[in-house]
Amino acid sequence: MISTTIFCSLVLLTLPFITTSQSVADTHITRNGSALYLGSDRWTASGANVYWLGLDENVRPPAGEPYDPVTNASYPTKARITEIFDTMVALGARTVRSQTIGISVGNPLSVMPSLGVVNEKAFEPIDWAVREARRTGVRIFAPFTDNYDYYHGGKFVFLRWRGIIASKSGDPNIQQFYTNRQIVDDFKNYIEIVMTHKNSYSNLTYAEDPTIFAYETGNELSGPTFDDKNVPADWTDEILSFIKSLGPHKLAVDGTYGINTAHLNISSIDIFSDHFYPIDINKLAQGVAQVQSVNKVYFAAEYGWTPQSQQNSAKMETFFDWIEKRNSAGVEQPVVVGDHFWSAFGRNAPANCSSFLPHNDGLTLHYDNPADPQDRRAEVVKIRRHLFRMQGQTVGTALPPVPCPTT
Ligand SMILES: *[C@@H]1O[C@H](CO)[C@@H](O)[C@H](O)[C@H]1NC(C)=O
Ligand SMILES: *[C@@H]1O[C@H](CO)[C@@H](O)[C@H](O)[C@H]1NC(C)=O
Ligand SMILES: *[C@@H]1O[C@H](CO)[C@@H](O)[C@H](O)[C@H]1NC(C)=O
Ligand SMILES: *[C@@H]1O[C@H](CO)[C@@H](O)[C@H](O)[C@H]1NC(C)=O
Ligand SMILES: *[C@@H]1O[C@H](CO)[C@@H](O)[C@H](O)[C@H]1NC(C)=O
Repeated sequence: MISTTIFCSLVLLTLPFITTSQSVADTHITRNGSALYLGSDRWTASGANVYWLGLDENVRPPAGEPYDPVTNASYPTKARITEIFDTMVALGARTVRSQTIGISVGNPLSVMPSLGVVNEKAFEPIDWAVREARRTGVRIFAPFTDNYDYYHGGKFVFLRWRGIIASKSGDPNIQQFYTNRQIVDDFKNYIEIVMTHKNSYSNLTYAEDPTIFAYETGNELSGPTFDDKNVPADWTDEILSFIKSLGPHKLAVDGTYGINTAHLNISSIDIFSDHFYPIDINKLAQGVAQVQSVNKVYFAAEYGWTPQSQQNSAKMETFFDWIEKRNSAGVEQPVVVGDHFWSAFGRNAPANCSSFLPHNDGLTLHYDNPADPQDRRAEVVKIRRHLFRMQGQTVGTALPPVPCPTT
Protein backbone atom coordinates (compact mmCIF):
# COMPACT_ATOMS: atom_id res chain seq x y z
CA MET A 1 0.00 0.00 0.00
CA ILE A 2 2.78 2.48 0.83
CA SER A 3 5.11 2.55 -2.13
CA THR A 4 7.26 5.39 -0.77
CA THR A 5 8.58 3.77 2.40
CA ILE A 6 11.90 5.57 2.35
CA PHE A 7 10.31 8.93 1.78
CA CYS A 8 7.88 8.19 4.58
CA SER A 9 10.51 7.34 7.18
CA LEU A 10 12.51 10.47 6.28
CA VAL A 11 9.41 12.53 6.87
CA LEU A 12 8.85 10.80 10.19
CA LEU A 13 12.40 11.54 11.28
CA THR A 14 12.29 15.21 10.51
CA LEU A 15 8.68 16.22 11.11
CA PRO A 16 7.15 14.19 13.92
CA PHE A 17 3.66 15.64 13.39
CA ILE A 18 3.46 14.38 9.84
CA THR A 19 2.64 10.71 9.98
CA THR A 20 1.45 10.25 6.46
CA SER A 21 2.92 10.29 2.99
CA GLN A 22 1.25 11.60 -0.13
CA SER A 23 0.17 8.15 -1.27
CA VAL A 24 -1.54 7.42 2.05
CA ALA A 25 -3.32 10.78 1.95
CA ASP A 26 -4.57 9.98 -1.55
CA THR A 27 -5.96 6.59 -0.52
CA HIS A 28 -9.69 6.43 0.12
CA ILE A 29 -11.06 4.80 3.26
CA THR A 30 -13.17 1.83 2.23
CA ARG A 31 -15.70 -0.40 3.95
CA ASN A 32 -15.83 -4.16 3.76
CA GLY A 33 -18.78 -5.45 5.77
CA SER A 34 -18.51 -4.07 9.29
CA ALA A 35 -14.86 -2.99 9.07
CA LEU A 36 -13.10 0.01 7.52
CA TYR A 37 -9.83 -0.17 5.60
CA LEU A 38 -7.04 2.14 4.49
CA GLY A 39 -5.63 0.20 1.56
CA SER A 40 -5.25 -3.34 2.90
CA ASP A 41 -4.89 -2.22 6.55
CA ARG A 42 -7.76 -2.21 9.03
CA TRP A 43 -8.59 1.37 9.98
CA THR A 44 -10.15 2.74 13.15
CA ALA A 45 -11.99 6.03 13.15
CA SER A 46 -11.68 7.47 16.64
CA GLY A 47 -11.16 11.12 17.47
CA ALA A 48 -12.95 14.32 18.30
CA ASN A 49 -15.77 16.62 17.41
CA VAL A 50 -14.35 20.00 16.38
CA TYR A 51 -17.52 21.69 15.26
CA TRP A 52 -16.16 25.21 14.63
CA LEU A 53 -13.68 24.67 11.76
CA GLY A 54 -15.84 26.40 9.12
CA LEU A 55 -17.55 29.03 11.30
CA ASP A 56 -17.26 29.80 15.00
CA GLU A 57 -19.35 31.75 17.49
CA ASN A 58 -16.98 32.05 20.44
CA VAL A 59 -14.50 34.73 19.40
CA ARG A 60 -14.97 38.40 18.65
CA PRO A 61 -12.55 39.03 15.76
CA PRO A 62 -10.52 42.27 15.38
CA ALA A 63 -12.51 45.21 13.96
CA GLY A 64 -12.85 45.01 10.19
CA GLU A 65 -12.87 41.19 10.07
CA PRO A 66 -16.09 39.45 8.99
CA TYR A 67 -18.44 39.20 11.98
CA ASP A 68 -22.16 38.62 12.41
CA PRO A 69 -23.30 40.51 15.52
CA VAL A 70 -26.65 38.70 15.64
CA THR A 71 -25.09 35.25 16.16
CA ASN A 72 -21.52 36.25 17.16
CA ALA A 73 -20.30 34.23 14.17
CA SER A 74 -16.84 34.73 12.68
CA TYR A 75 -14.38 32.67 10.66
CA PRO A 76 -11.78 30.80 12.73
CA THR A 77 -8.20 31.91 12.07
CA LYS A 78 -5.85 29.66 10.12
CA ALA A 79 -3.62 29.56 13.20
CA ARG A 80 -6.44 28.13 15.35
CA ILE A 81 -7.18 25.48 12.73
CA THR A 82 -3.49 24.54 12.46
CA GLU A 83 -3.16 24.37 16.24
CA ILE A 84 -6.17 22.10 16.66
CA PHE A 85 -5.00 19.62 14.00
CA ASP A 86 -1.58 19.38 15.66
CA THR A 87 -3.48 18.87 18.92
CA MET A 88 -5.44 16.04 17.28
CA VAL A 89 -2.18 14.28 16.38
CA ALA A 90 -0.89 14.70 19.95
CA LEU A 91 -4.16 13.24 21.24
CA GLY A 92 -3.96 10.24 18.92
CA ALA A 93 -7.08 11.20 16.93
CA ARG A 94 -7.56 9.69 13.50
CA THR A 95 -10.79 11.46 12.66
CA VAL A 96 -12.48 14.79 13.24
CA ARG A 97 -16.21 15.27 12.97
CA SER A 98 -17.01 18.89 12.13
CA GLN A 99 -20.51 20.30 11.82
CA THR A 100 -19.53 23.56 10.10
CA ILE A 101 -17.55 21.86 7.32
CA GLY A 102 -20.83 20.49 6.02
CA ILE A 103 -23.51 22.75 7.55
CA SER A 104 -23.26 26.38 6.44
CA VAL A 105 -26.61 27.97 5.62
CA GLY A 106 -28.61 31.05 6.56
CA ASN A 107 -25.92 33.05 8.35
CA PRO A 108 -24.50 36.11 6.50
CA LEU A 109 -21.11 34.35 6.78
CA SER A 110 -22.37 30.96 5.53
CA VAL A 111 -21.52 29.21 2.29
CA MET A 112 -25.19 29.79 1.41
CA PRO A 113 -26.39 32.93 3.25
CA SER A 114 -29.72 32.90 1.44
CA LEU A 115 -31.38 30.45 -0.93
CA GLY A 116 -29.26 29.92 -4.05
CA VAL A 117 -26.62 32.54 -3.10
CA VAL A 118 -23.04 31.29 -2.72
CA ASN A 119 -20.50 33.12 -0.55
CA GLU A 120 -17.04 31.96 -1.69
CA LYS A 121 -15.36 33.54 1.33
CA ALA A 122 -16.95 30.93 3.59
CA PHE A 123 -14.93 28.22 1.86
CA GLU A 124 -11.59 29.73 2.95
CA PRO A 125 -11.49 28.27 6.48
CA ILE A 126 -12.96 24.98 5.24
CA ASP A 127 -10.29 24.70 2.52
CA TRP A 128 -7.63 25.40 5.14
CA ALA A 129 -9.08 22.85 7.56
CA VAL A 130 -9.06 20.16 4.86
CA ARG A 131 -5.48 21.11 4.02
CA GLU A 132 -4.40 20.87 7.66
CA ALA A 133 -6.21 17.56 8.11
CA ARG A 134 -4.33 16.19 5.10
CA ARG A 135 -1.02 17.54 6.43
CA THR A 136 -1.49 15.83 9.78
CA GLY A 137 -2.98 12.59 8.44
CA VAL A 138 -6.36 13.19 10.09
CA ARG A 139 -9.58 12.35 8.22
CA ILE A 140 -12.75 14.42 8.40
CA PHE A 141 -16.42 13.58 8.30
CA ALA A 142 -19.25 16.08 8.39
CA PRO A 143 -23.04 16.28 8.47
CA PHE A 144 -24.86 18.37 5.83
CA THR A 145 -27.65 19.73 8.00
CA ASP A 146 -28.56 20.15 11.63
CA ASN A 147 -31.66 19.11 13.53
CA TYR A 148 -31.42 22.44 15.38
CA ASP A 149 -31.35 26.15 14.57
CA TYR A 150 -27.87 27.26 15.68
CA TYR A 151 -25.69 30.01 14.19
CA HIS A 152 -24.44 27.74 11.37
CA GLY A 153 -27.96 26.83 10.19
CA GLY A 154 -29.85 23.60 9.64
CA LYS A 155 -33.20 22.21 8.59
CA PHE A 156 -35.17 25.20 9.94
CA VAL A 157 -33.28 27.48 7.53
CA PHE A 158 -34.35 25.35 4.55
CA LEU A 159 -37.94 25.44 5.85
CA ARG A 160 -37.89 29.24 6.27
CA TRP A 161 -36.48 29.70 2.76
CA ARG A 162 -39.75 28.24 1.48
CA GLY A 163 -41.93 30.18 3.89
CA ILE A 164 -42.47 27.45 6.46
CA ILE A 165 -42.16 28.76 9.99
CA ALA A 166 -42.22 25.68 12.19
CA SER A 167 -42.06 25.76 15.94
CA LYS A 168 -39.07 23.93 17.35
CA SER A 169 -40.87 20.96 18.82
CA GLY A 170 -43.93 18.91 17.98
CA ASP A 171 -44.82 20.84 14.81
CA PRO A 172 -45.80 18.45 11.98
CA ASN A 173 -44.55 21.08 9.47
CA ILE A 174 -41.00 20.10 10.44
CA GLN A 175 -41.47 16.94 8.35
CA GLN A 176 -41.60 19.08 5.21
CA PHE A 177 -37.83 19.24 5.38
CA TYR A 178 -37.94 15.57 4.33
CA THR A 179 -41.15 15.46 2.32
CA ASN A 180 -41.52 18.74 0.42
CA ARG A 181 -40.00 18.12 -3.03
CA GLN A 182 -38.87 21.74 -3.46
CA ILE A 183 -37.06 21.70 -0.09
CA VAL A 184 -35.45 18.32 -0.75
CA ASP A 185 -34.17 19.69 -4.06
CA ASP A 186 -32.91 22.88 -2.35
CA PHE A 187 -30.98 20.72 0.09
CA LYS A 188 -29.51 18.58 -2.71
CA ASN A 189 -28.51 21.73 -4.58
CA TYR A 190 -26.72 22.97 -1.47
CA ILE A 191 -24.93 19.60 -1.06
CA GLU A 192 -23.81 19.74 -4.68
CA ILE A 193 -22.40 23.26 -4.23
CA VAL A 194 -20.34 22.13 -1.25
CA MET A 195 -19.11 18.86 -2.74
CA THR A 196 -18.14 20.34 -6.11
CA HIS A 197 -16.23 23.24 -4.55
CA LYS A 198 -12.57 23.03 -5.54
CA ASN A 199 -10.12 23.45 -2.67
CA SER A 200 -7.64 26.21 -3.55
CA TYR A 201 -4.81 24.38 -1.72
CA SER A 202 -5.14 21.05 -3.53
CA ASN A 203 -7.28 21.74 -6.61
CA LEU A 204 -9.35 18.78 -5.49
CA THR A 205 -13.09 19.10 -4.97
CA TYR A 206 -14.42 17.97 -1.61
CA ALA A 207 -16.11 15.17 -3.55
CA GLU A 208 -12.72 13.99 -4.82
CA ASP A 209 -10.56 14.54 -1.74
CA PRO A 210 -10.09 11.37 0.37
CA THR A 211 -9.38 13.62 3.39
CA ILE A 212 -13.15 13.99 3.76
CA PHE A 213 -13.82 10.27 4.01
CA ALA A 214 -17.53 10.40 4.82
CA TYR A 215 -20.58 12.63 4.82
CA GLU A 216 -23.55 12.35 7.13
CA THR A 217 -27.12 13.31 6.12
CA GLY A 218 -27.34 15.50 9.21
CA ASN A 219 -26.63 15.97 12.88
CA GLU A 220 -28.99 14.26 15.36
CA LEU A 221 -31.82 14.25 12.82
CA SER A 222 -35.26 13.63 14.22
CA GLY A 223 -38.82 14.29 13.10
CA PRO A 224 -41.17 16.73 14.84
CA THR A 225 -40.05 15.54 18.29
CA PHE A 226 -36.46 15.31 19.46
CA ASP A 227 -35.07 11.75 19.31
CA ASP A 228 -38.21 10.29 17.67
CA LYS A 229 -36.03 8.77 14.87
CA ASN A 230 -38.73 9.89 12.44
CA VAL A 231 -36.50 10.47 9.42
CA PRO A 232 -38.06 8.92 6.30
CA ALA A 233 -36.08 6.00 4.87
CA ASP A 234 -36.65 7.11 1.29
CA TRP A 235 -35.29 10.59 2.06
CA THR A 236 -32.19 9.08 3.72
CA ASP A 237 -31.57 6.84 0.72
CA GLU A 238 -32.14 9.66 -1.76
CA ILE A 239 -29.69 12.01 0.00
CA LEU A 240 -26.98 9.40 0.56
CA SER A 241 -27.30 8.07 -3.00
CA PHE A 242 -26.95 11.64 -4.25
CA ILE A 243 -23.81 12.16 -2.12
CA LYS A 244 -22.37 8.96 -3.59
CA SER A 245 -23.25 9.99 -7.13
CA LEU A 246 -21.11 13.14 -6.60
CA GLY A 247 -18.36 11.41 -4.62
CA PRO A 248 -18.37 7.69 -5.44
CA HIS A 249 -15.68 6.94 -2.82
CA LYS A 250 -17.44 8.71 0.05
CA LEU A 251 -18.74 6.60 2.90
CA ALA A 252 -22.32 7.48 3.79
CA VAL A 253 -23.46 7.98 7.38
CA ASP A 254 -27.11 7.89 8.45
CA GLY A 255 -27.48 11.10 10.47
CA THR A 256 -30.63 9.95 12.26
CA TYR A 257 -30.26 10.39 16.03
CA GLY A 258 -30.01 6.77 17.13
CA ILE A 259 -30.53 3.56 15.19
CA ASN A 260 -33.81 3.54 13.29
CA THR A 261 -34.39 -0.16 12.63
CA ALA A 262 -36.45 0.70 9.53
CA HIS A 263 -33.19 2.06 8.04
CA LEU A 264 -31.18 -1.12 8.50
CA ASN A 265 -31.99 -2.34 4.99
CA ILE A 266 -31.08 0.92 3.20
CA SER A 267 -28.29 -0.16 0.87
CA SER A 268 -26.71 3.30 0.47
CA ILE A 269 -25.86 3.52 4.19
CA ASP A 270 -22.33 2.47 5.15
CA ILE A 271 -22.27 3.72 8.73
CA PHE A 272 -24.90 4.10 11.46
CA SER A 273 -24.21 6.21 14.51
CA ASP A 274 -25.45 7.21 17.92
CA HIS A 275 -24.61 9.87 20.53
CA PHE A 276 -24.13 9.39 24.27
CA TYR A 277 -25.25 11.88 26.94
CA PRO A 278 -24.48 10.16 29.24
CA ILE A 279 -22.47 7.13 28.20
CA ASP A 280 -24.77 4.11 28.17
CA ILE A 281 -23.22 0.70 27.49
CA ASN A 282 -26.61 -0.99 27.04
CA LYS A 283 -27.58 1.48 24.33
CA LEU A 284 -24.18 0.98 22.68
CA ALA A 285 -24.44 -2.83 22.79
CA GLN A 286 -27.98 -2.83 21.44
CA GLY A 287 -27.14 -0.47 18.56
CA VAL A 288 -24.00 -2.38 17.64
CA ALA A 289 -25.93 -5.68 17.59
CA GLN A 290 -28.56 -4.15 15.28
CA VAL A 291 -25.91 -2.82 12.89
CA GLN A 292 -23.99 -6.10 13.06
CA SER A 293 -27.12 -7.91 11.87
CA VAL A 294 -26.80 -6.10 8.54
CA ASN A 295 -22.98 -6.24 8.41
CA LYS A 296 -22.38 -2.47 8.45
CA VAL A 297 -20.27 -0.08 10.52
CA TYR A 298 -21.19 1.83 13.70
CA PHE A 299 -19.75 5.09 15.12
CA ALA A 300 -20.28 6.39 18.65
CA ALA A 301 -20.00 9.79 17.02
CA GLU A 302 -20.49 11.94 20.14
CA TYR A 303 -20.18 11.36 23.85
CA GLY A 304 -20.00 13.69 26.83
CA TRP A 305 -16.50 13.23 28.25
CA THR A 306 -16.54 15.00 31.61
CA PRO A 307 -17.19 12.99 34.79
CA GLN A 308 -20.26 15.22 35.37
CA SER A 309 -21.77 14.51 31.93
CA GLN A 310 -21.06 10.78 32.21
CA GLN A 311 -22.43 10.80 35.75
CA ASN A 312 -19.24 8.99 36.76
CA SER A 313 -15.69 8.66 35.52
CA ALA A 314 -15.54 4.85 35.47
CA LYS A 315 -18.24 4.72 32.79
CA MET A 316 -15.92 6.18 30.18
CA GLU A 317 -13.29 3.52 30.90
CA THR A 318 -15.87 0.74 30.49
CA PHE A 319 -17.01 2.34 27.23
CA PHE A 320 -13.45 2.56 25.90
CA ASP A 321 -12.68 -0.99 26.94
CA TRP A 322 -15.81 -2.31 25.22
CA ILE A 323 -14.91 -0.56 21.95
CA GLU A 324 -11.20 -1.47 22.09
CA LYS A 325 -11.92 -5.18 22.57
CA ARG A 326 -13.86 -5.15 19.32
CA ASN A 327 -10.96 -3.49 17.53
CA SER A 328 -8.13 -5.59 18.89
CA ALA A 329 -5.88 -7.68 16.67
CA GLY A 330 -7.59 -10.73 15.23
CA VAL A 331 -11.13 -9.34 15.36
CA GLU A 332 -12.31 -9.49 11.75
CA GLN A 333 -15.45 -7.38 11.93
CA PRO A 334 -15.46 -4.86 14.79
CA VAL A 335 -18.77 -3.15 13.79
CA VAL A 336 -18.03 -0.25 16.16
CA VAL A 337 -14.89 1.26 14.65
CA GLY A 338 -14.74 4.57 16.44
CA ASP A 339 -15.88 7.11 18.99
CA HIS A 340 -15.64 10.89 19.08
CA PHE A 341 -15.75 13.00 22.22
CA TRP A 342 -17.71 16.25 22.33
CA SER A 343 -15.85 18.63 21.88
CA ALA A 344 -12.37 20.05 21.31
CA PHE A 345 -11.31 23.69 21.49
CA GLY A 346 -7.78 25.08 21.36
CA ARG A 347 -5.86 28.25 22.01
CA ASN A 348 -6.64 31.74 20.77
CA ALA A 349 -3.99 31.62 18.04
CA PRO A 350 -2.36 33.67 16.72
CA ALA A 351 -3.51 36.47 19.08
CA ASN A 352 -2.69 34.80 22.40
CA CYS A 353 -1.28 31.28 22.70
CA SER A 354 -1.61 31.47 26.50
CA SER A 355 -5.35 31.78 26.25
CA PHE A 356 -7.61 28.73 25.76
CA LEU A 357 -10.93 29.47 24.06
CA PRO A 358 -14.07 28.69 26.00
CA HIS A 359 -17.38 27.32 24.83
CA ASN A 360 -20.35 27.52 27.14
CA ASP A 361 -21.73 23.96 27.04
CA GLY A 362 -19.57 22.59 29.87
CA LEU A 363 -18.09 19.95 27.55
CA THR A 364 -15.12 21.86 26.13
CA LEU A 365 -11.98 19.72 26.07
CA HIS A 366 -8.70 21.62 26.28
CA TYR A 367 -5.47 19.74 25.71
CA ASP A 368 -2.98 20.53 28.48
CA ASN A 369 -4.67 23.66 29.79
CA PRO A 370 -2.77 24.57 32.98
CA ALA A 371 -5.96 26.14 34.37
CA ASP A 372 -7.90 22.85 34.18
CA PRO A 373 -8.67 21.12 37.48
CA GLN A 374 -7.00 17.74 38.06
CA ASP A 375 -10.10 15.66 37.30
CA ARG A 376 -10.48 17.22 33.84
CA ARG A 377 -6.79 16.71 33.05
CA ALA A 378 -7.06 13.07 34.14
CA GLU A 379 -9.94 12.51 31.72
CA VAL A 380 -7.93 14.06 28.86
CA VAL A 381 -5.09 11.63 29.60
CA LYS A 382 -7.57 8.71 29.59
CA ILE A 383 -8.98 9.79 26.24
CA ARG A 384 -5.50 10.14 24.76
CA ARG A 385 -4.44 6.69 25.92
CA HIS A 386 -7.66 5.23 24.47
CA LEU A 387 -7.18 6.97 21.10
CA PHE A 388 -3.64 5.58 20.83
CA ARG A 389 -4.77 2.09 21.89
CA MET A 390 -7.30 2.23 19.06
CA GLN A 391 -4.27 2.56 16.78
CA GLY A 392 -2.51 -0.32 18.53
CA GLN A 393 -0.13 1.96 20.44
CA THR A 394 0.57 2.39 24.15
CA VAL A 395 1.37 5.84 25.51
CA GLY A 396 2.02 7.14 29.01
CA THR A 397 0.29 9.82 31.03
CA ALA A 398 2.41 12.80 29.95
CA LEU A 399 0.91 15.24 27.46
CA PRO A 400 3.58 16.16 24.89
CA PRO A 401 3.61 19.86 23.92
CA VAL A 402 1.78 21.07 20.82
CA PRO A 403 3.06 24.03 18.78
CA CYS A 404 0.89 27.16 18.70
CA PRO A 405 1.32 29.51 15.72
CA THR A 406 1.78 33.15 16.75
CA THR A 407 1.51 34.58 13.24
C1 LIG B 1 -14.13 -8.61 2.75
O1 LIG B 1 -14.10 -9.34 3.95
C2 LIG B 1 -14.39 -10.70 3.77
C3 LIG B 1 -14.57 -11.35 5.13
O2 LIG B 1 -13.71 -10.82 6.10
C4 LIG B 1 -13.28 -11.33 2.93
O3 LIG B 1 -13.52 -12.70 2.74
C5 LIG B 1 -13.24 -10.61 1.59
O4 LIG B 1 -12.15 -11.09 0.84
C6 LIG B 1 -13.09 -9.12 1.78
N1 LIG B 1 -13.27 -8.46 0.49
C7 LIG B 1 -12.38 -7.58 0.03
C8 LIG B 1 -12.72 -6.94 -1.28
O5 LIG B 1 -11.37 -7.27 0.64
C1 LIG C 1 -22.96 37.09 21.78
O1 LIG C 1 -21.94 37.37 22.72
C2 LIG C 1 -22.38 38.19 23.79
C3 LIG C 1 -21.16 38.59 24.61
O2 LIG C 1 -20.40 37.45 24.96
C4 LIG C 1 -23.42 37.44 24.58
O3 LIG C 1 -23.90 38.23 25.65
C5 LIG C 1 -24.59 37.09 23.66
O4 LIG C 1 -25.53 36.28 24.34
C6 LIG C 1 -24.09 36.32 22.43
N1 LIG C 1 -25.18 36.16 21.49
C7 LIG C 1 -25.58 34.97 21.05
C8 LIG C 1 -26.70 34.96 20.07
O5 LIG C 1 -25.06 33.93 21.43
C1 LIG D 1 -4.17 24.59 -9.11
O1 LIG D 1 -4.43 24.89 -10.44
C2 LIG D 1 -3.91 26.14 -10.85
C3 LIG D 1 -4.39 26.44 -12.27
O2 LIG D 1 -4.17 25.33 -13.10
C4 LIG D 1 -2.40 26.12 -10.74
O3 LIG D 1 -1.86 27.36 -11.08
C5 LIG D 1 -2.02 25.79 -9.29
O4 LIG D 1 -0.61 25.66 -9.19
C6 LIG D 1 -2.67 24.51 -8.84
N1 LIG D 1 -2.44 24.32 -7.41
C7 LIG D 1 -2.12 23.14 -6.87
C8 LIG D 1 -1.92 23.11 -5.40
O5 LIG D 1 -1.99 22.14 -7.54
C1 LIG E 1 -36.93 -2.22 4.39
O1 LIG E 1 -37.74 -2.80 5.41
C2 LIG E 1 -38.99 -2.14 5.58
C3 LIG E 1 -39.68 -2.78 6.79
O2 LIG E 1 -38.93 -2.48 7.95
C4 LIG E 1 -39.80 -2.25 4.32
O3 LIG E 1 -41.01 -1.55 4.49
C5 LIG E 1 -39.02 -1.65 3.17
O4 LIG E 1 -39.70 -1.84 1.96
C6 LIG E 1 -37.63 -2.27 3.06
N1 LIG E 1 -36.86 -1.49 2.10
C7 LIG E 1 -36.03 -2.03 1.25
C8 LIG E 1 -35.25 -1.07 0.40
O5 LIG E 1 -35.88 -3.22 1.14
C1 LIG F 1 -3.24 36.09 27.09
O1 LIG F 1 -4.11 35.27 27.81
C2 LIG F 1 -3.73 35.11 29.16
C3 LIG F 1 -4.65 34.05 29.77
O2 LIG F 1 -6.00 34.40 29.58
C4 LIG F 1 -3.81 36.47 29.86
O3 LIG F 1 -3.40 36.31 31.20
C5 LIG F 1 -2.89 37.44 29.13
O4 LIG F 1 -3.05 38.72 29.69
C6 LIG F 1 -3.23 37.48 27.66
N1 LIG F 1 -2.22 38.28 26.96
C7 LIG F 1 -2.54 39.26 26.14
C8 LIG F 1 -1.39 39.94 25.46
O5 LIG F 1 -3.69 39.58 25.92
